[in-house]
Amino acid sequence: MLLKSEYVPPLLEGDRRPRRLDAMSPLRYPGSKRKMLPSIQQLIEGNIPRPKLLIEPFCGGASVSLGLLEIDAVESVLLADLDPLVAAFWSVATTDAEWLIRAMYKEPVTVERWQYWRNAKPRSIRNRALKCLFLNRTTFSGIIGGNAGPIGGRTQSSEYKIGCRFEKEPLARRIRNVKRLADAGRILRTYEGSWQAAIRCAEYAAADFGPKESLFYLDPPYIEKASRLYEQPFSDADHRALAAFLTEETDHRWILSYDEEPLVVELYRGKPGVHDFRVTHHYTMAGNRRKPVPGREILFTNLPNNPVRPRRASKR
Ligand SMILES: C[S@@+](CC[C@H](N)C(=O)[O-])C[C@H]1O[C@@H](n2cnc3c(N)ncnc32)[C@H](O)[C@@H]1O
Repeated sequence: MLLKSEYVPPLLEGDRRPRRLDAMSPLRYPGSKRKMLPSIQQLIEGNIPRPKLLIEPFCGGASVSLGLLEIDAVESVLLADLDPLVAAFWSVATTDAEWLIRAMYKEPVTVERWQYWRNAKPRSIRNRALKCLFLNRTTFSGIIGGNAGPIGGRTQSSEYKIGCRFEKEPLARRIRNVKRLADAGRILRTYEGSWQAAIRCAEYAAADFGPKESLFYLDPPYIEKASRLYEQPFSDADHRALAAFLTEETDHRWILSYDEEPLVVELYRGKPGVHDFRVTHHYTMAGNRRKPVPGREILFTNLPNNPVRPRRASKR
């Protein structure tokens, strides 16, 4: 439901620095936040010096972290997720990428293998990573858990076949890019656990930096669809606990993305020190440069309320 809300300032897009396809996430994610990158970039660069560490406790496909590294808006990132398959993927991609790439090449992309991986309960982290990659690239909408079937259906009678999102060459390049970032210390750590545990881990990892040099980016599961899209359920009580932490308990700086839902508005809008911005789209069917259209996505943040056009990147 789109709320009839009070005026929320729009965030215009930041400058669109060229993006390499190889810098994109190897994982597809329902509702990937890649399209919000220019707005997030604008919030960061308009407000604070380049963060030394960005912590993404609900990382999923990590499209924002990878995008911000690519445009050099942050120095390093910490990726965390509660889903053991997703966390295993990031762990293996950052440490054991050549194994993952070899294993990916060996996998026949067939409905039989899809069924195998759907039923498999891998005990090794390597095979959990492979299961994550295989199912993410071959299942409808990239949904790893739940009841979604293979792209093209079990009978493969659709125009789109199971392998249409599993192009191995480009995927190998994306995985190698992740490994390169980890080797350069720019993906500082990956972590499997709840957002609370990830924040404790990040506080430890960022102990040398101080709270003003790090930034959280949080993209929790959607309120309406949480139980359908992701393996990990996220209840109203979880959304409330997160809001209490962000708005009342932490000194850390944070940016949070949500769709505009009544519970979200209740939890964040008008809270002391919290600002919200509506993301506008220039590149949709309805919107263009002259007439951008407001989206449903809202960014909440405790950064000061003065987004300006971003500075030009120093390194690119
Ligand atoms: C909306 S998705 C993130 C998508 C990501 N921003 C992207 O662009 O690809 C939310 C993620 O949060 C994870 N998650 C769910 N409950 C969690 C919890 N309690 N703690 C940490 N992560 C959780 C899910 O496994 C899922 O990967």
